[in-house]
Amino acid sequence: MRLKDRVAIVTGAARGIGQAYALALAREGATVVVADVLACSETIAQIRENGGQSLGLTVDVADPQSTEAMAANVLLHFGRIDILVNNAAVFDGLELIPFEEISEMEWDRVMAVNVKGLWLCCKAVVPAMKKQARGRIINISSDTIWLGRPFLLHYVTSKGAVFVFTRALARELAGTGINVNAITPGYTVTGSTEARVDPDTIARRAAAVDRQIIKRNERPEDLTGTVVFLASDESEFITGQTINVNGGATHH
Ligand SMILES: NC(=O)c1ccc[n+]([C@@H]2O[C@H](COP(=O)([O-])OP(=O)(O)OC[C@H]3O[C@@H](n4cnc5c(N)ncnc54)[C@H](O)[C@@H]3O)[C@@H](O)[C@H]2O)c1
Repeated sequence: MRLKDRVAIVTGAARGIGQAYALALAREGATVVVADVLACSETIAQIRENGGQSLGLTVDVADPQSTEAMAANVLLHFGRIDILVNNAAVFDGLELIPFEEISEMEWDRVMAVNVKGLWLCCKAVVPAMKKQARGRIINISSDTIWLGRPFLLHYVTSKGAVFVFTRALARELAGTGINVNAITPGYTVTGSTEARVDPDTIARRAAAVDRQIIKRNERPEDLTGTVVFLASDESEFITGQTINVNGGATHH
């Protein structure tokens, strides 16, 4: 078990890819705090069924009071915070839309969760990680940033911010023992999107597979190995990096 005695927070872990990260970290022995605006009972039940330890917290990553309460709660329960996976985002449900038609409210919502949320969660956990002289922050970006995916300008811009946030924060935390890295998943079929057979979804899936070197749909399980690696001691000398996990769809 590579993460025995570690305490991890995974935001946006009620469903989808975040749930898969939470299960994978727990399988490696970490105690996993699942933080989401939605109820996390399914994720917690699955972790416990596999013999793991887990705590669910209702957290809005865009709200500073909520993120501070999250960190305080985790420290109260477990006394430490070793790993933060910044996965929560506004993504599923965003419609492809010309950039002039994105409402100001929608633009602000995407930025508040996908960018400000990252900053707030880091601010909340870094003091504890500094005290421990060790920490792992893993930010979830998207390979849409290399593709310049059109008709999702708010989302793609927010995920570009995750990329630069990662390298700048890694440098700012030099000497603290905290490593900050990101991954850029490709288009990933999750439990919530699997059943969709509308023409747009089918076209997006097919286009993604077409771009890839490995010709099949990407699944959440394709991403968990990299997150576990970045959370573990094996990635000690890696920081400020962004790793593509997308079947070879892009190179950077
Ligand atoms: N699925 C893909 O194709 C894909 C591709 C590249 C990157 N990503 C990224 O991977 C991550 C997970 O994607 P997914 O497909 O599982 O998305 P999803 O929409 O299914 O899950 C996102 C989770 O974040 C939670 N969330 C949303 N706003 C929140 C807030 N304010 N506070 C706390 N939690 C909040 C949601 O409730 C949900 O559980 C996201 O960062 C997404 O941008 C996804």
